[in-house]
Parts: sequence; C-alpha cells; structure tokens
Amino acid sequence: MSTGIDWDSLRSVARAAVTRAYAPYSSYSVGAAALTDDGRILEGCNVENASYGLTLCAECALVSQLHVTGGGRLVAVSVVDSDGTPLTPCGRCRQLLYEHGGADLWVDAEPDPVPVSQLLPDAFGPDHLKRKKGA
Ligand code: THU
Repeated sequence: MSTGIDWDSLRSVARAAVTRAYAPYSSYSVGAAALTDDGRILEGCNVENASYGLTLCAECALVSQLHVTGGGRLVAVSVVDSDGTPLTPCGRCRQLLYEHGGADLWVDAEPDPVPVSQLLPDAFGPDHLKRKKGA
C-alpha cells in the first residue's frame, strides 16, 4: 500500500535533485527520488544534450543508481518539476519504471499516488519474454 510510504521525504529528495538538473535546452528541470525494497533512497535528475535526442530523463539516472548501489526493486517513485510539483513520467520512463518495480510500483501524483499499472495499463514486460521462452 502507498500509505506506509513517507511521501513527504521522498518528494523532498526529488526537490533537492531537481536543483542539480542539466537542462539548458528545454529549461525544464526534473528531479526524481525512489524508495527501494530494502529501504534505500535513490535520486536522479535530467541531463540534456546538444544533440537533443540523447537527453536522459531523471528516471534514467534513478534506475542506473538502483543497480550501481546494489540492485533490488523500486517500491515508490516521486518525480517533480522545478516548482516541486509531482509530474507523471513520460511514456518511455513509465516502461523503464515498470521494468524495475513491476505493476505495484507506486508513483507520486496529485491528489494521491497511483500504481504504475494505472499509468501503463496492459504493460508489456519481462513476463512476456519468459512466457515465450517456456512455450
Ligand atoms: N523529462 C524527464 O526527466 N522525465 C520525464 O518523465 C519527462 C521529461 C525531461 C526530459 C527533458 O530534459 C525535459 O524533461 C523536457 O522534456
């Protein structure tokens, strides 16, 4: 359940991360924070590039930090803009988060957090590949 999650502190980590964003092209800074299944707190910010399509969303940094700090699963994620307001992740990042948190991953939203399965219904994921291999 999302009720056991300290959303205020997760959001404040995301709000600190957004100040580190490198977004000279869009001027749209994004910060992200996540709670892992073993209690670690991760963070990330967006990093843009002069070759615009190479931009890394804040969630990409988050997922890299998940693995570089020991792996595991994402339990809850907060992504905010420069006002500190939660934003719902872009489509690519919904898929990215789903891979590392599954359908029950909680995503910060107004007025209440939502499971990623609500943002990405009928998601394609690792189970599809397993089913195919077993067939
Ligand atoms: N952005 C993110 O970091 N995460 C999202 O989920 C949405 C978009 C970034 C990418 C780009 O640097 C800026 O926001 C404007 O699209």
